[in-house]
Amino acid sequence: MEQLLQQIAAYKQEIEQTAQDGAEALEAYRIKFLGTKGIVKGLFTEMKNVDADKKKEFGQILNEFKQLAENKYDTWKQGLESGSTAAGSTLDVTLPGEPLPLGTRHPINLFLNHVISIFQRLGFSVAEGPEIEDDWHNFTALNLPEHHPARDMQDTFYIQQKPDYLLRTHTSNTQIRAMETNPLPIRIICPGRVYRNETVSARSHCFFHQIEGLYIDENVSFADLKQTLYFFVQEMYGKDIKVRFRPSYFPFTEPSAEMDIQCQICGGEGCAVCKRTGWLEILGCGMVHPKVLENCKIDSNKYTGFAFGMGIERPALLKYGINDIRLFSENDVRFLRQFTSAI
Ligand code: DAH
Repeated sequence: MEQLLQQIAAYKQEIEQTAQDGAEALEAYRIKFLGTKGIVKGLFTEMKNVDADKKKEFGQILNEFKQLAENKYDTWKQGLESGSTAAGSTLDVTLPGEPLPLGTRHPINLFLNHVISIFQRLGFSVAEGPEIEDDWHNFTALNLPEHHPARDMQDTFYIQQKPDYLLRTHTSNTQIRAMETNPLPIRIICPGRVYRNETVSARSHCFFHQIEGLYIDENVSFADLKQTLYFFVQEMYGKDIKVRFRPSYFPFTEPSAEMDIQCQICGGEGCAVCKRTGWLEILGCGMVHPKVLENCKIDSNKYTGFAFGMGIERPALLKYGINDIRLFSENDVRFLRQFTSAI
């Protein structure tokens, strides 16, 4: 009997240490311990060799052993069925999951997406153009030929190896690309990053974002332009927003204008942000210059169009109450984490 007990103790240890991995191993375990010729059965047949006065004690030990072998089988099988066995132990699938850190949208993207959604409701679709651009699409086709003084308004980064290539200074390059390739009519908005050789400070940066709008069709008028922009600012800033147009100059539009909205900080009273004028300039716009249409092989006697271009950083700063434009590109998660929902 002593020998039998030692054997049982060794089997117990073996059972406890058997890793619960896979259906095949489970079946091998079942055959070895619980099968018709298995260890448990074999031990029961030893009963007849045990002294009569020890039979009761041995019977109890055997039953406990059998129970242990069966329990192991049951939990192993259950684990397999729920797909949650890990080597050596069963996973508790009822435990709460580990939270995954969720990212948030960048405030510039939130703002851009909001602007885009407003224009999409008017039937504009999104077009994108390259950030590395050639001279033709960034300047010449837009009626800014070489030596044109207005080129200096936008201090340009040129690409050293290929002097005709540059980092686009505005999203207006996408107008030209669209007019060259898209069938008419065209109704697009073009969001994107632009670059200018400017000193980086709290108020300006060497790269920033713009969104460009373009509508070309027969009989498009300045009234259409105004109506479109009125709709936009009312959706963006509320129905009561006050707006004004000022005559301006851009080589690629004629006539040209700039649009101001009532200062969102002081409500038009005059403050540091609006430089005491009560107005904030938000975009440039105008009727596409006939020469620009011709540059893109569009018949300027038949077609007219309007265009506008708007910076994103400045209104986003105002909207979110941020005082330093550099925060947008520093990727500090403590800053970025604060912007969790759309406007
Ligand atoms: N491209 C101009 C800039 O970067 C903005 C602009 C003004 C775009 C008038 C236009 C426009 O399409 O019509 O300052």
